[in-house]
Amino acid sequence: MEEEQAHKDEMPRQMHPSILQVIEQKKNIRQKLAGIKHKIGIYSAKGGVGKTTVAVNTAYTLRNMGYKVGLLDADIDCPNVALFLGISGTFSDEYPLKPYEKDGIKVLSTAMYVDDEKKPIIWRGPLVGKMVREFLENAQWGELDYLIIDLSPGTSDAPLSIIQLLDLDGFVLVTTPQRIASVNTIRSGMMAKRLGVAVLGVVENMSRGTPTGAKQVADALGCDVLGTISLDEKLGELSDANKIPVNEDGKIREEFISILKRITG
Ligand SMILES: Nc1ncnc2c1ncn2[C@@H]1O[C@H](COP(=O)(O)OP(=O)(O)OP(=O)(O)O)[C@@H](O)[C@H]1O
Ligand SMILES: [Mg+2]
Repeated sequence: MEEEQAHKDEMPRQMHPSILQVIEQKKNIRQKLAGIKHKIGIYSAKGGVGKTTVAVNTAYTLRNMGYKVGLLDADIDCPNVALFLGISGTFSDEYPLKPYEKDGIKVLSTAMYVDDEKKPIIWRGPLVGKMVREFLENAQWGELDYLIIDLSPGTSDAPLSIIQLLDLDGFVLVTTPQRIASVNTIRSGMMAKRLGVAVLGVVENMSRGTPTGAKQVADALGCDVLGTISLDEKLGELSDANKIPVNEDGKIREEFISILKRITG
């Protein structure tokens, strides 16, 4: 009897079933994505700062450097990667999910599964999390050097699922020079750090020269400013026309190459 009690005392305390489930899912995803060398999230809690712009042009810059690249649109309810690339509605009923190949980049986005790009996707949190899991667990990503993940703003469902389920190399944070943007970007960095994800650095988009917003973020989080992307009407116009700014404009290309050299280095 005494021996039995001693044995019970030695046993680890039981973990909550939901935690065990997440650990199991993470293990499964790690095996499924074993062919991907690096996974980088592009993130800010602030909307409209240029996350998708940075994700798309980062993917193309890496591809142009000779890397094998995938681009995951983890903005499940407002999927803009597909909108930027002009591949909305390119539905394939293959399962496990088959990424669309655009210019050699493998892309998955909810927008590919919606027949009208203006149709709203009105899903509650659990369904958003389930879709993120589908894109990670049941997709044919194959061998990649980099998987770039475009996140939605906020600090809830989709970013949380990515943080919980994926072994990320870390986040590249995006801010603009404005204080409201930098405060919310600091918020995202703090969330990442609290949940054990590295912050690789911060990019100042829509910059007017010397980084101010990115400097505030870097100081608050103890990370590097990776570089700036100038406020440039042409960048918006090219993206609107489904063109890739780094493929069309030398100055924009140089800004991204400089940032990417710091990340890959
Ligand atoms: N440096 C820039 N100069 C000019 N326009 C830009 C620049 N960066 C992004 N834009 C434009 O600003 C708009 C918002 O950019 P984008 O969609 O990349 O932001 P986001 O952070 O992904 O937004 P959301 O939070 O909605 O996902 C787009 O129309 C884009 O073309
Ligand atoms: Mg976006």
